Amino acid sequence: MKCVKLVDKRKFEIGEIEEPQAQDGYVLIDVKKAGICGSDIHYWDIGEPKGLVLGHEYCGIVTNTGGKEGLQVGDRVTALPISPCLKCSACKTGNIQYCKETWANATGLSLTNSGALAPKMAIREDMVIKVPDNISDEEVAMVEPTAVGLHGIHLADIKVGQKVLVIGGGIIGLVSAMFAKMEGASLVVVSETNEKRGQNAVDLKVADKWYDAKSDLSTKITEDTLEGFDVVIECCGNEKAVTSAILATKPGGTCVLVGVSMLPITIPTVSVVMSELTVKGAIAYTKEEFETCIELMANNQIDVKKFISDIVTLEDVQASYERLTNGNDDAIKIIVDPNK
Ligand SMILES: NC(=O)c1ccc[n+]([C@@H]2O[C@H](COP(=O)([O-])OP(=O)(O)OC[C@H]3O[C@@H](n4cnc5c(N)ncnc54)[C@H](O)[C@@H]3O)[C@@H](O)[C@H]2O)c1
Ligand SMILES: [Zn+2]
Ligand SMILES: [Zn+2]
Repeated sequence: MKCVKLVDKRKFEIGEIEEPQAQDGYVLIDVKKAGICGSDIHYWDIGEPKGLVLGHEYCGIVTNTGGKEGLQVGDRVTALPISPCLKCSACKTGNIQYCKETWANATGLSLTNSGALAPKMAIREDMVIKVPDNISDEEVAMVEPTAVGLHGIHLADIKVGQKVLVIGGGIIGLVSAMFAKMEGASLVVVSETNEKRGQNAVDLKVADKWYDAKSDLSTKITEDTLEGFDVVIECCGNEKAVTSAILATKPGGTCVLVGVSMLPITIPTVSVVMSELTVKGAIAYTKEEFETCIELMANNQIDVKKFISDIVTLEDVQASYERLTNGNDDAIKIIVDPNK
């Protein structure tokens, strides 16, 4: 069947992979919609592993249940893309997101389990979750990034009235800002290098204001907070962004690192030490957080449709990645329909 394959640095090609076959323990789905994620962009940037079929945010229709109880052919589902061992201490305490094995065979992020940039896929049955009828396919594909934001917010432990800065206005930054407001933050600011994305954060009503990250932030931070933000959530991963996150955090405050850097970066640890900051890493989500996001969508308590900028075909994937990385496009989440 047709798929999109990573073939080189910043280069996809339309290719062929074998259709997944029925096997016990694996649910087969017809992919309805798949999201393009900021993490996928890191793989595209480095062009490795070659042959990778990306796509870990998806909605699909079950064509074979693989023996999963309570599931029927025709059900609409999504899934956690991770692949925990279920034996280690992380797994046993419900933290499948930091199991050491969880990413090695992750769906859409490994060569072993190809992703949703193809019309069909196989998913580990215990990661599959049925979704209610009143959420659209596109929204279902947004559950995964929304759960990333929710996990970061849970770790940030925001108190009512606190001031929160989110570095980066991609989808992860925007959902983090959205949840920060829901947690009762009195001021939510998004910092962005891309003016259109910064303005988006305000226009979409997830941030009270935005900072242009290309300018010096220190004066603005002093004006808005005096001593710095109680909580800073870093959603970019690059050296400059992580450094500004640390410098913007109030002494004694909390800085949550959600952004991923594939390479080691240099950051001012002296500020962490001198200000006794709590710096926390946040990876993925628990199953409960994933389910919470589905529930919040089904109950209309959050609206993630507003973050969807476009729905494209497999042929458009290369151009969509270019669009998402040119630094001046206002697109946030681009969804792929592999059957379009
Ligand atoms: N920890 C996790 O579980 C997890 C899950 C998903 C994504 N991520 C990571 O989170 C990050 C964000 O994901 P995304 O999908 O929103 O990506 P994205 O690329 O859409 O968004 C990143 C944004 O940061 C902006 N930016 C870059 N440098 C900046 C700076 N110095 N200051 C302010 N803004 C800056 C960019 O203009 C861009 O809009 C990525 O690194 C991604 O890999 C982590
Ligand atoms: Zn993702
Ligand atoms: Zn484990």
